[in-house]
Amino acid sequence: MVGLGMIFDDTYRPFFEQVHRQPIFDRRYGAVEVPLTAVASRTGSRAERYRESLRGVVSPFESYAGQDAVAQLMTSGVDFACVATPDDRHFEAAKTVLAAGGHLLLEKPSVLSLAELDELVALAKQNNVLAKVVYHKLLDPDHKRLRTFYADGRLRHVNNGYCSLLEPKSISGGQFAEWINGRNPGTYVAVHYIKLIDFTFGGRLKTVTASGQRGQVGPSDGTTWDSCQLRLIYEYDSGREAAFDIHTSWVTPDNFPGYVEQEVQFRFDNGVWNGHSRKRGVECTIEGETPHKTKITINNHYSAPFLEPWGERCQRGYGVEVIERFAREVALVEFGGPAGERGARLAAARDLHYDDLSADRQTVAAVQALEAILDHAAHGRPDGVVRVNDSRGGLVLYHPGSNEPEILYAPSV
Ligand SMILES: NC(=O)c1ccc[n+]([C@@H]2O[C@H](COP(=O)([O-])OP(=O)(O)OC[C@H]3O[C@@H](n4cnc5c(N)ncnc54)[C@H](O)[C@@H]3O)[C@@H](O)[C@H]2O)c1
Repeated sequence: MVGLGMIFDDTYRPFFEQVHRQPIFDRRYGAVEVPLTAVASRTGSRAERYRESLRGVVSPFESYAGQDAVAQLMTSGVDFACVATPDDRHFEAAKTVLAAGGHLLLEKPSVLSLAELDELVALAKQNNVLAKVVYHKLLDPDHKRLRTFYADGRLRHVNNGYCSLLEPKSISGGQFAEWINGRNPGTYVAVHYIKLIDFTFGGRLKTVTASGQRGQVGPSDGTTWDSCQLRLIYEYDSGREAAFDIHTSWVTPDNFPGYVEQEVQFRFDNGVWNGHSRKRGVECTIEGETPHKTKITINNHYSAPFLEPWGERCQRGYGVEVIERFAREVALVEFGGPAGERGARLAAARDLHYDDLSADRQTVAAVQALEAILDHAAHGRPDGVVRVNDSRGGLVLYHPGSNEPEILYAPSV
């Protein structure tokens, strides 16, 4: 495990606890143990705290810290590594994992540029390992249902839609304070919805525009963003287009009743899909606890602690399930049949477009475009437009009033 922050605690820790109690099983590979054997983090202090609090709950693990922590971790004999470092530190860690011949599970957003994506995909291919990325929203039962309606033609042709995801101030001011300089909430969370739109509706990304606001997390003329608005235009085989607006922030007041405000609306030729994470049905007030320690509207589907009817305690949800799915994909590749057929099993696992890094191209393209547009805006050149696969290149940034477009990525996206 590389990175022991918030997402480790939300999803990876419960997964390793669960698999410590019960190995994963499938008729094709039998029972497979998935012990957490080693962790790497920046300072090692959280690892020490976890070593205490997780004693007996997960297997004993080595802890590596500092500059070459990931390289050291890879020499300790791990089969796969999960990378959950801040988003602008994914690439180096991921490269180290793949170069050492380990399977890779990378947190979203996978990487920040298509050049980085190309390098990781090539490295995974060269070393015959999996390189996968976590987008747990694809496993949210509501989003699975949306995709099922669309795939079955019951909802027809998406025309437009909006998504919003608002994080509390404690995220930008506390949890992420160490690495937030120069960052924006769009790359970090809009990416959930970029992937949802890309995976659910297919199509070709054509155009990316973006704007943002500053002044709370950092100075109003600086490079750190409080909130941003991203617009994507897609084109489908029918020749028709769709537009999607994704609004994100990490400066929502901490006493907001929902921990993370998430809303989507998609409009189709023959229908409307309206989803609201806080309105799934539960509102709970506990004196002295809500809305700070516990939120009033709680998402019990993502990763929540439960006392099961049969007495067992567990933490489960789609955020944990997505990690288990990856462990199952690795188990199938390594143990799911004769060694001589490993290549075929590897190829089949790579064909899973929901998580394979090679299928993350349009999502990474949107992220790279967003980063470039915001960077220019912070340096006095707002209102850029990125066109995808036009006559000048794969990702081309245009500025109003300038005849000199910037080629962000030359090959086709
Ligand atoms: N899937 C989701 O919904 C979701 C939610 C939160 C975060 N994330 C993703 O997970 C990643 C981490 O986010 P977080 O919220 O856990 O952040 P965090 O700031 O809470 O934790 C970051 C961790 O990375 C470690 N780290 C930093 N630099 C490192 C390096 N160079 N080498 C090794 N370890 C290093 C830190 O020590 C810390 O343990 C981000 O990419 C984020 O986008 C995903």
